[in-house]
Amino acid sequence: MDYSKTWPNLDESQIMLMDQIHQFAQKVVAPVAAHHDETGEFPTENVKQMAEMGLMGMMVEEKWGGAGLDTLTYAMAMEAVSAACASTGVIMSVNNSLVCYPIQAFGTDAQKEKFLKPLASGQKLGCFALSEPGHGSDPAGLKCRAEKVPGGYKINGSKNWITNGREADYCILLATINPDLKHKGICAFVVDTKTKGFSVNKLENKLGITASSTASLFFDDMVVADECLLGKEGEGFKVAMSTLDGGRIGIASQALGIATCAFEASKKFASEREQFGAPIAKLQAIQFYIAEMGTRLQAARLLTWFAAQRKDQGLPFAREAAMAKLSASESAMWIATKAIQVHGGYGYTKEYVVERNFRDAKITEIYEGTSEIQKLVIAAHELAKK
Ligand code: CAA
Repeated sequence: MDYSKTWPNLDESQIMLMDQIHQFAQKVVAPVAAHHDETGEFPTENVKQMAEMGLMGMMVEEKWGGAGLDTLTYAMAMEAVSAACASTGVIMSVNNSLVCYPIQAFGTDAQKEKFLKPLASGQKLGCFALSEPGHGSDPAGLKCRAEKVPGGYKINGSKNWITNGREADYCILLATINPDLKHKGICAFVVDTKTKGFSVNKLENKLGITASSTASLFFDDMVVADECLLGKEGEGFKVAMSTLDGGRIGIASQALGIATCAFEASKKFASEREQFGAPIAKLQAIQFYIAEMGTRLQAARLLTWFAAQRKDQGLPFAREAAMAKLSASESAMWIATKAIQVHGGYGYTKEYVVERNFRDAKITEIYEGTSEIQKLVIAAHELAKK
């Protein structure tokens, strides 16, 4: 991408940074992406280099170990990394959006010193544990219990579908002090995964993003200190929901990256592949696919950057983030499907990247709120308007 021609206008330093991130993604991340996809091996080297480049805590203030950048730059960086490897993209997104953000926004200085500094600088990795076996789209009724004990809380329960769950050093954990209170009983904690009683129970065998771990976590009489409570008792649902608002910009950007990869591969293939005596790019059927892919991609990108820009301006952005995620994830799925169609039989094989794009795109319509949940969020905002 030519970052000097993007909207909104970027300054010189942003253009230089994005060129650097794009180079890293294409030269370091992309060449090993198929290997990680095939083996499911965690991309340790990618994450190490991303930490050195400041990509693991991009929006965290420098004094807390972050890069002190804005959400728009984060969205662009997420797209660039995810275009090379969607697994690496989600590892980055969870650490930035779902782990660093709530500590920065709701944490005490002591929590920032202890947890945020190592997370934002990439020395440590985090996960976000909200979903449970019986509570995915409806987390207000979650069952993981936090019982008040002298000096802290005793946690019992389990969590499902936790990205980075196997590797995480720290975990943002949502648990309830009283399930009868529904969302008003939920508390957020920041927890060291080495705490006695914390265990990783099961790893999912997935369709896509195979190099990122998706784990079930188990808490058995795990005692955490009062100092681990993030925000106030009973504020956990709001911590989680506002965290997910920003997370949805990250996943929208991941979807844009997957779509970009599929789109670029399709243009290249269409220009090289000959049928009926000419490159298939000369066929109007293929041109229509290319035109629609490009249009859907750019429309979703503008929605995503608009949401990011509103967040940077301190304006409400929950509706815009939901629109961005809905549009970008569904566009990514559509573009990846058509990319295989453009490639024909070749696209159905692992020799071509579009096969991986197709498998990776699907999850963007599911995690951090399904497309249907995004529609609920958007409708609630639209209908609440006077
Ligand atoms: N920010 C702050 N507060 C919010 C909020 C937001 N975005 N959304 C709701 N709230 C507040 C409301 O104001 C309300 O507060 P009061 O009690 O003070 O009035 C309270 O939360 C309850 O709101 P709702 O009645 O709207 O809540 P609900 O139970 O009906 O839920 C929902 C609404 C949008 C469906 C929500 O449950 C939701 O987003 N569900 C999807 C969850 C999700 O995205 N899960 C993915 C998990 S993370 C993941 O994918 C794993 C990974 O590792 C990548």
